[in-house]
Amino acid sequence: MELPAQLEFATLPLMNLRTSVWSFEDGLRHQAAFRPPHVRKFLAMYTSEWDAIVTDPRLMRVPVDDHLVHRGDGVFETILFDGGRIFLLEPHLTRLRHSAAQIGLDFQASDEHLKTVLQDLFSVASVDRALARVLVGRGPGGFSVDPAESLSPSLYIVVYQAAPPFMESHPGGAKVVFSQVPPKSGILATVKTCNYLPNALMKAEASRAGAHFAVGVDETGHVTESFTENIAAVDESGALVIPPPDRHLPGTTLQRVSELADAAGIPVHIRKLTPDEVRGMKELLVIGTTARVTSVTDLEGQPFPIGPVGKQLARMLDEDILNADSKSTH
Ligand SMILES: Cc1ncc(COP(=O)(O)O)c(C=O)c1O
Repeated sequence: MELPAQLEFATLPLMNLRTSVWSFEDGLRHQAAFRPPHVRKFLAMYTSEWDAIVTDPRLMRVPVDDHLVHRGDGVFETILFDGGRIFLLEPHLTRLRHSAAQIGLDFQASDEHLKTVLQDLFSVASVDRALARVLVGRGPGGFSVDPAESLSPSLYIVVYQAAPPFMESHPGGAKVVFSQVPPKSGILATVKTCNYLPNALMKAEASRAGAHFAVGVDETGHVTESFTENIAAVDESGALVIPPPDRHLPGTTLQRVSELADAAGIPVHIRKLTPDEVRGMKELLVIGTTARVTSVTDLEGQPFPIGPVGKQLARMLDEDILNADSKSTH
């Protein structure tokens, strides 16, 4: 028999609750005493909820009803700040707008506003090297899957300490395995949405194998990318070979590295690669904002050298990051 709602509520044995029920003031008091150790890395956050920057990690929260949280309905960028400069700001903002447009997210914040907030955040963070995670969510509004439920897009930008570049902390190069995780396709592969479960599973897969990166393979038997990095190889002739951007995210770093390669007279070829072709390459590289240009030295047990092209590209990219005249930066 179905009970009337009122009666159901009235019969709840309130005195026997096993979970604390806090008032707003209780919540604030406990929040003030909360000191989780991991949050020290987070230096500053902007939230569109308050249109303000906060530096206390206890205030770095996202509303649970933002569809970004419970549906992965949002897009993002990770942007490097190094040596007093924001690297590749324009390409990151262009990709952010493209991503938002691809999922029908009507994101109105101007580039000027985004640049101002980013510069303010890096000033407040006052460290030499940091990363900004720019998240644009569908916005708060409820728990359905319907994007129309969200009132307006949200913007959260968190600045956090960047780890040293991979080759600095791992001078012996990277160990890589091929991934068994089903690769993304369509716009989920080529747009930087907040649907990163396959990427997270690839990272876990790599860690289980004792590897630093995992490289995806699509159903046609061609390599895609790593979890948050692109893949490139150097062939017998010394040319840089890059898979076409149909099953991977078009990386801002990969784009810049290919421009640098081109300017240095290193031929750049765009073509699909099978795992067997990759095994036959002279060098294998993992490229991205945090990996920079990383040389692979172990592909499922097969040794690769830290070769001349990888070294040259890594050096050119490092210089570019610190070079105020770089064309692709702000
Ligand atoms: C899936 C994926 N591929 C590639 C990249 C590399 O892109 P970028 O060089 O812009 O960092 C990223 C960066 O976060 C990524 O998430």
